[in-house]
Amino acid sequence: MTMTTASTQQTTNTAGLYYIKTHGCQMNEEDSNKMGNLLQEQCQMSPCTSVQDADLIILNTCSIREKAQEKVFSELGRWRKEIKCKDDVVIAVAGCVASQEADEIFKRAPFVKIVIGPQTIHRLGDLYRQCKSSKKRQIDVSFPAIEKFDHLPQNTESAVSSFLTIMEGCNKFCSYCIVPYTRGEEISRDFKNVIEEAKHLARTGAREIVLLGQNVNDYYGKIDETIDGNLALLIQTISQIPGIERIRFTTSHPQAFDDTLIDAYDARNTKLCNHLHLPVQSGSNRILKNMKRDYTIEKYLEIIDQLRCKRPGLPISTDIIVGFPGETEDDFQQTMALVDRVKFDSSFSFIYSPRPGTPASELVDEVPLEEKKSRLARLQTRLKYYADQIALSMVGQTVTVLVEGMSKKSNRQLSGRTENNRIVNFPGDASFLGQIVHVTITEKCQNSLRGRLVSGADQAQANHSTDRQSLAAAT
Ligand code: SAH
Ligand code: SF4
Ligand code: F3S
Repeated sequence: MTMTTASTQQTTNTAGLYYIKTHGCQMNEEDSNKMGNLLQEQCQMSPCTSVQDADLIILNTCSIREKAQEKVFSELGRWRKEIKCKDDVVIAVAGCVASQEADEIFKRAPFVKIVIGPQTIHRLGDLYRQCKSSKKRQIDVSFPAIEKFDHLPQNTESAVSSFLTIMEGCNKFCSYCIVPYTRGEEISRDFKNVIEEAKHLARTGAREIVLLGQNVNDYYGKIDETIDGNLALLIQTISQIPGIERIRFTTSHPQAFDDTLIDAYDARNTKLCNHLHLPVQSGSNRILKNMKRDYTIEKYLEIIDQLRCKRPGLPISTDIIVGFPGETEDDFQQTMALVDRVKFDSSFSFIYSPRPGTPASELVDEVPLEEKKSRLARLQTRLKYYADQIALSMVGQTVTVLVEGMSKKSNRQLSGRTENNRIVNFPGDASFLGQIVHVTITEKCQNSLRGRLVSGADQAQANHSTDRQSLAAAT
């Protein structure tokens, strides 16, 4: 799920301009949002859209696969040239590569002046000021408990669909994964702090909240001294906040997917989106065991069957790794069979990438790269087949869409998402921004859908579940 975004707004402010480029997952995107708020509030800086204009350039990095990590160094080199080696410009590296590779960054890119880990982004303003006054490199890649959330300023305006981080870190230590080393120990934010932030997001424009964490169903944030919360309770409480119309969460882990969360998919809870991202990684129990995933395919399928009893045809997306050390053609065929059984909606699939320091990187890996590539191609063809079938089944259906903005291609087209996270573009004006509307899907495009507006917000709310029924037929 790695993606790349850059700060987009251009405004004029007093104390200089910053530019942030983000690699990696939604946690990184949200950290970049928070760093932007902090620079505006604490340093009176403004965002800009080009590295040439910036006084502070931040690369928020991802190290989930080797390619993502190497991209950091090529990007830093390119920026160095683009800013024509101006020494008063501060280049900072944040995120998961920063967390693990500070020495390597200073060695390979000596012009970098700040290295800051994911858990200390609230100290960015101080590090920047110290760097400017002392002209010395600054580094903070420590893991202080969960203090970052108490020290980050809140935004004055929220996106229609806003992220809300409910936990940080990961204790699962899947044998292939770098995240527990880069993000540290799993810690949940207090229940009431999360609810306060959700209310603030609603007051400032959010209509959809995406609860974020590496394993959100492990969430245990304290309600008070004696009672721990859980994800289902969080969903239920946020559902009652006026203004919040949709709730999503990512990422959940099959191992801790308990009955309370399955019950949250009760048909009556209309605010919890009709979609679930549940990474499976492999269809083979042998490989899952070697990956240290702590569940079997039978358990994974049982969760899905229970969920689809509550919500027939619930669209499910997933993450899959191919070419894990020792994966045979037979293991791979079990993954293909799982894809046929679940008929995943959109999914992410990757070739296994050994990460330094993880247990899997010590395993003998006899699967040739060509074979791994062939498996990925075969898998992606199959995943695309089902994703296309689901999109085609939506053509002709009327679905609810949360209008998030104007379409990238035309200012007469609106863009929004269906409950199962499909992008829909349709003619309409800005008065619909932030509303849930009814759209009849007219066409399936390469990566999105096209539609026609049927009705405004009120009717869409009343008929929230019609698209859920139509999807049931496709899966
Ligand atoms: N916490 C989430 C996933 C976080 S990382 C979970 O447990 O599901 C996002 C995805 O990157 C993972 O689901 C996995 O499919 C992929 N990934 C992680 N480490 C990888 C590696 N070493 N090589 C290839 N893909 C990897
Ligand atoms: Fe990585 Fe596993 Fe933690 Fe997900 S659960 S972040 S894959 S270690
Ligand atoms: Fe990448 Fe770190 Fe997220 S490794 S996927 S940015 S948690």
